[in-house]
Amino acid sequence: MLSTKTRIAESFYGSFIDGHMVDEGTNRTFDSINPANGEVITSIQAGGKSEVDDAVASAKAAFPAWRDLPGVEKGRIFLKIAEKIKENTERLVYLESLDNGKTRMDAQFDVMTSARYFEYYAGLADKLAGETIPLGDTHISYTRSEPFGVTAHIVPWNAAFQQAARGVAPALLAGNTAVVKPAEDTSITTIELARIAVEAGLPAGVFNVVTGLGRDAGAALVSHPDVGRVTFTGSVPTGQEIMRASAENLNPLTLELGGKSPNIIFEDAKLEDAIRGAFFAININAGQVCAAGSRLLVHSSVHDQVVDKLVEMNSQIKLGPGTDAASQMGAITTAAQFEKIQEYLEIGRNEGAEVAVGGSRATGENLDAGRFIQPTIFVNVQNSMRIAQEEIFGPVLSVIRFDTEEEAVQIANDTRYGLTAGVWTQNLGRAHRMAARIQAGQVNVNDYFAGGVQAPFGGFKQSGYGREKGVHAVSEYLQTKTVSMKL
Ligand code: NAI
Ligand code: MG
Repeated sequence: MLSTKTRIAESFYGSFIDGHMVDEGTNRTFDSINPANGEVITSIQAGGKSEVDDAVASAKAAFPAWRDLPGVEKGRIFLKIAEKIKENTERLVYLESLDNGKTRMDAQFDVMTSARYFEYYAGLADKLAGETIPLGDTHISYTRSEPFGVTAHIVPWNAAFQQAARGVAPALLAGNTAVVKPAEDTSITTIELARIAVEAGLPAGVFNVVTGLGRDAGAALVSHPDVGRVTFTGSVPTGQEIMRASAENLNPLTLELGGKSPNIIFEDAKLEDAIRGAFFAININAGQVCAAGSRLLVHSSVHDQVVDKLVEMNSQIKLGPGTDAASQMGAITTAAQFEKIQEYLEIGRNEGAEVAVGGSRATGENLDAGRFIQPTIFVNVQNSMRIAQEEIFGPVLSVIRFDTEEEAVQIANDTRYGLTAGVWTQNLGRAHRMAARIQAGQVNVNDYFAGGVQAPFGGFKQSGYGREKGVHAVSEYLQTKTVSMKL
């Protein structure tokens, strides 16, 4: 029974408050499961209101000193955090693969991206400034950008480590302190991140974590009167619930609520690149990606060629435990998500779409005890079908034909979401026309996941609002004060 996992994962992970993890004690716990085989990895404290109160109090107490620490000092700590993340890469990659189910390659990307957030924001640390406003000779006016105080971050399970860093790094850089509530299925690496940050010199209380269920710990955190700003990534209904809870405190929000992103291949695209791009856009992290290119719009003249090649590529994907280096697609992270994807496979068939490859749960040696889904492609999809309108959040691609640029724009925008879009064309005029006309926060041309930590990221329409990443994210965590004075 003592396998590698017990060497690397501790037997208990609890909330991380005021610089240390709580003791196991008599806390209520729930299990964190390895989705690749159903085994229990560790137990997680089921925190609630009292842990949230402690974490927020710690963050509130740490706030003035952290706010007043010179930017250059904040930046130096951030660089040490980035270094420590990199030093711990092997262990973090293993833990994230184990807990989430994702492949080592996907986990590696998450860990490196987290380090990049801290490096990127370290560089900005001593470069934030306000403006002066000319009011004539008699007055002086300038702005100060001030933090909110305690920020709350509700993180989902699909890229936990990376998403925690994505929120916390800019919030702290802006001078706020933070309390993070990781998703119940993937709490381990967020606690590891807080611990690494403190080991790297971040003062206790600046970065706290409360583990627990969304309806307990999450709900208590977002409605806490001492929280000044909330960032949430996850589903639309939970986003709406958090918005309602935030109304009580009139707290501003950043909401990143997923999508049904169109990835559009024109007849003049470099097809080899476009096909590879379409393949990764839906299959990375087993499709559990907010920005996944889940609707593939293909010009009729190249439709069959594109689909044939994608079917061939999908049928060669090796499924298996993410922790095995040979696995090319891992397990579905949560039990609910595993059920949901299978329901959509049924819904698509009933709506009259045709399964070109995949279409069910994957079975076989190494797979039966886990939550594996065959990478699936539906063809003959109408954009009005549920499999084209609703976020499936799995390795399920809906392919839709189009004949004209006009039609491509119309189909692309015929969705309640507006997170990301991909455009594959060699026609520069068309690329820029599409970029302007598509209703989405990100449009990527000739490379689906083109943006890095530097590029602002967020949604139009029901994909949410506010921007993460880049300089934009820092301004989300600052409020403007105008100081005006008669001379
Ligand atoms: P969810 O939105 O319910 O969970 C995300 C986070 O919110 C978790 O940390 C959860 O504990 C927390 N939470 C839940 N209820 C809360 C509440 N009342 N107050 C505060 N926090 C709360 O998502 P779920 O149920 O895990 O997945 C459902 C669907 O959401 C997926 O099938 C997918 O379509 C979408 N999703 C989108 C993500 C994205 O990246 N935009 C990430 C994860 C899920
Ligand atoms: Mg897990």
